[in-house]
Amino acid sequence: GHGVTAMGRDVAAPADHVPAPGRDVTSLTADPRREADVRVTLTARKQRFRPAAGRLVDGYTLNGTSPGPVIHATAGQLVEVRLVNESVPDGITLHWHGVDVPNAADGVAGVTQDAVGVGGSFTYRFVADRAGTFWYHSHQMSHEQVRRGLLGALVVAPAKGTGAVDGVALLHLYDGVRTVNGREGDVRVEASPGARARVRVINTENGQTPVWVGGAPFRLVAVDGTDLNEPGPVRGTAVMVTAGGRADLEVAMPEDGSPVRVHIGGPTGVVLGSRAYDAPAVPRPAATLDLLSYGAPAPIGFDPDAADRRFVYDIGRRPGFLDGRPGLWWTVNGHMFPDVPMYVVAPGDVVRMRIGNHSGETHPMHLHGHHAVVLSRGGVRATGSPWWVDSLEVGNGEWYDIAFVADNPGIWMDHCHNLPHAAEGLVAHLMYE
Ligand code: C2O
Ligand code: CU
Repeated sequence: GHGVTAMGRDVAAPADHVPAPGRDVTSLTADPRREADVRVTLTARKQRFRPAAGRLVDGYTLNGTSPGPVIHATAGQLVEVRLVNESVPDGITLHWHGVDVPNAADGVAGVTQDAVGVGGSFTYRFVADRAGTFWYHSHQMSHEQVRRGLLGALVVAPAKGTGAVDGVALLHLYDGVRTVNGREGDVRVEASPGARARVRVINTENGQTPVWVGGAPFRLVAVDGTDLNEPGPVRGTAVMVTAGGRADLEVAMPEDGSPVRVHIGGPTGVVLGSRAYDAPAVPRPAATLDLLSYGAPAPIGFDPDAADRRFVYDIGRRPGFLDGRPGLWWTVNGHMFPDVPMYVVAPGDVVRMRIGNHSGETHPMHLHGHHAVVLSRGGVRATGSPWWVDSLEVGNGEWYDIAFVADNPGIWMDHCHNLPHAAEGLVAHLMYE
């Protein structure tokens, strides 16, 4: 096979792999003659820019900014994004984190496409089939290119408007400086007294981050682009947002016109208000919302007890050689990258996976192309709203049972979204037979 680069290292491409004919995914790819509803060109450059006050960053931009522009679509629309590489020497791709795109649009360099070299372009086409909060980022040397700026938000609005004020809060670290939407200070969102405001928090950092609200109770209405069922009001409790994950908070603005502060990992974040934006900072609450029991149960649409496949994804660490470099490397079921066997499924399978971690560190695990429902943590069953994830924080010593339906044929990464960990081999793949 030809040498290609994924996650910052050369891996051998499965040169003779021909994807099996699986379930028809034309609903996602859409008729090739169908006119795109949302059409965007993103041009990537190597550039020195100023995301935070007074600080210059050597990095990469999309259309001259980092984060790149927020892409807005409505559920059901066909999105077409043309990615142009003007001057990023290592080549680039775009991955649509949390959108269950057709495999050819997944943007994984070395697996679903080759990286786009300088002077090249690539067009991604997919139907934004569900409303929710997503993001996009380069998936070529991602530990380096995401950190340096090749990322942005993707918001898919429901086909019927909700009437809520809508704000995006993309958390990112530039050279150690914490920013929201590329700024160091507060992001202000206009919301009048009595209004409902939805704040879409996107965590693009390598670690989980707490989010809390001062000045009003809130409801956590969606996680990883999926609405929760009957979420109740939360007060004095923080929400942890997984690395790569998203949390949508809905705040009922106070009738007396006082502003509300949504803290994103620290004193700053989003201030919602109409006249005043001087909402005081409040300390982080000690309690954290447990999604295992939040919201009300509802059918998940399949029976995880009648699983067709049961897999274990057991994360450990041991000394060895990776690309000839000695070190202490991550293992999956005892195997080191790239010798991790693929998880093989057939279209339509109900898949259960037990993710365990005894590696000494925390890992935010991200599955491409699918959403999985959390069944239990440490043997404690989920009792709240179906908790659908594409990014799940698995602490050292923890284990989760998750389940999903294999309904999107292709080869899909299932990796740690602490991106340096992925570059250190915490990567496995799901493949359809
Ligand atoms: Cu957000 Cu494989 O990544
Ligand atoms: Cu990790």
